[in-house]
Amino acid sequence: MDARTGPQAGRVALVTGAARGQGRSHAWRLAEQGADVIAVDICASIEGVAYPMAGHDDLEETAAGIRARGGRVSAHIADVRDGDALGKAVAAGIAELGGVDVVLANAGIGMASPDITEARAFRDQLEVNTVGVWNTVQAAAPTMIEQGRGGAIVLTSSSMGLTGRGGDGSGQSDGYIASKHAVVGLMRSWAHWLAPHSVRVNSVHPAGVATTMVLNDAVAARFSVPADEMPDVGNLLPVGLLAPEDITAAVAWLVSDEARYVTGVALPVDAGFTAR
Ligand SMILES: NC(=O)c1ccc[n+]([C@@H]2O[C@H](COP(=O)([O-])OP(=O)(O)OC[C@H]3O[C@@H](n4cnc5c(N)ncnc54)[C@H](O)[C@@H]3O)[C@@H](O)[C@H]2O)c1
Repeated sequence: MDARTGPQAGRVALVTGAARGQGRSHAWRLAEQGADVIAVDICASIEGVAYPMAGHDDLEETAAGIRARGGRVSAHIADVRDGDALGKAVAAGIAELGGVDVVLANAGIGMASPDITEARAFRDQLEVNTVGVWNTVQAAAPTMIEQGRGGAIVLTSSSMGLTGRGGDGSGQSDGYIASKHAVVGLMRSWAHWLAPHSVRVNSVHPAGVATTMVLNDAVAARFSVPADEMPDVGNLLPVGLLAPEDITAAVAWLVSDEARYVTGVALPVDAGFTAR
């Protein structure tokens, strides 16, 4: 696709958790479609999470891929839990690229380390997966309103944001399930807040996706499977893990003009997981 005439031409997209996995896939697709990208990631591991976060090299690779697709990029290291630091990063990106039209609040964590308490596992996931999403949109939405050119926001929840299946009373499962359900509440609230400004807000709910979040030793040990596999979690369709690009396809549609009257929607991309 010629980026200069693509569906996102002339727009700026903010993507959190952009250094790898789904965030990178989303950033690259939007760049292919003509967007410039404010790419944010923590680029450092989080104590108490059982698998490593992305590194600085990963963010560099995402940025190089955006440029290779014809997009401009403003890359920043920031923790979505830190509203002040995130706000500064987003403001710098907006100044550099000329505004913000699309927000993908994608950064998130799963599997807590067995070394921390259940209470801490619960709280840490709320901090990143819910407070982090709140901080992300609060950093960008005032500019979207002020610009007066509309826009689209997609919050990454999970199939576990629509069902409590598998919940076992641990801080791990309660934290993930509650933090991802909370994202639906934010999406619904913000769909109301931002509709008068023609900014649409939706959430996407993936089933298991083949990224480091699930393909790691800690998940393998918890479910007694090899580290490059997930247990059969029971999708309706005959597929185990989805690819990041499967989620990107839905996100790219939600932020396109094809979806111009779609707002307030929680969209599962889950091979039927939540339909069971
Ligand atoms: N992989 C799955 O099976 C799955 C399923 C449903 C939903 N999700 C959600 O999809 C989103 C993307 O995850 P992924 O699958 O690409 O996993 P991932 O671990 O590969 O990517 C997450 C990215 O977010 C970054 N990040 C984490 N905490 C951060 C913080 N506090 N501040 C800034 N950046 C931070 C990480 O460094 C990493 O680059 C997450 O919200 C996750 O909960 C994942």
